[in-house]
Amino acid sequence: MQTPTFPPQATPGAPVLRTRDQRHTVQLRLDGVPRQGSATPRTLLSDFLRHSLGATACHVGCEHGVCGACTVQVDGVAQRACLTLALQVDGCTVRTSAGLAVGPDAPLSDLQQAFRQHFALQCGFCTPGILMACDDWLQRPAQQGRLPGEAEVRELLSGHLCRCTGYTPIVAAVLQVAQLRLAAARSDAVEVPHA
Ligand code: FES
Ligand code: FES
Repeated sequence: MQTPTFPPQATPGAPVLRTRDQRHTVQLRLDGVPRQGSATPRTLLSDFLRHSLGATACHVGCEHGVCGACTVQVDGVAQRACLTLALQVDGCTVRTSAGLAVGPDAPLSDLQQAFRQHFALQCGFCTPGILMACDDWLQRPAQQGRLPGEAEVRELLSGHLCRCTGYTPIVAAVLQVAQLRLAAARSDAVEVPHA
C-alpha cells in the first residue's frame, strides 16, 4: 500500500488546480429580484455587487471595514460588504439602499424621506451605508417598544464616516423615524374589538 504524503504531492503531468481563481456561481435575491453571477473564493461582496451585478448603491470607500460606505443588509442584518466574501451570500437575501423604497407609489422609504426633510446628506457618498445600518438598527427599539436616545444613535453612527454633514441632521432624521416606527408598532399592537 502506498504511504500518503503530506502535503499531498501533485501527480506528474496533471493540470495544476488553481482553486483561488476558480469561479463559482452565486445565487441571491438582490433588492427583491433573483440574481446570479460568478465569483472566485476571494471576491469581495462589494466588488461582486458593483462589478458583476451592477448594484452601485453599494458604495466603496476604505475597503477595510472602517468607513461604513459599503454597508448592505444580508438576510436583514447590516454588514460591511467589503468584509464579506461574495460566496458567503450564496442563497441569501441582500438589500441595498436601492431596495429600501416600498413601491412605485412610495419611491422613498420613511428613512429616506426623513433624510431629505432634514438635509441629512450632501454628496451622498456615505448615505447608502448609513441608511442600511439605520434601517436594520431601528427595528430593535421599535420591537422593544421604546424610543432610542440621541446618544444611542450617535454610537450607531460612530461606525460610519461622513465628510459632509456633521451628523446632526442624520441624528435628527433617525430619531424622527424611530418615533414614527414606534407609533406604528403601538397602533399595530392595539387590538380592534370584534363587532
Ligand atoms: Fe467597506 Fe469602507 S468600504 S467599510
Ligand atoms: Fe458626503 Fe456623507 S454626505 S460623505
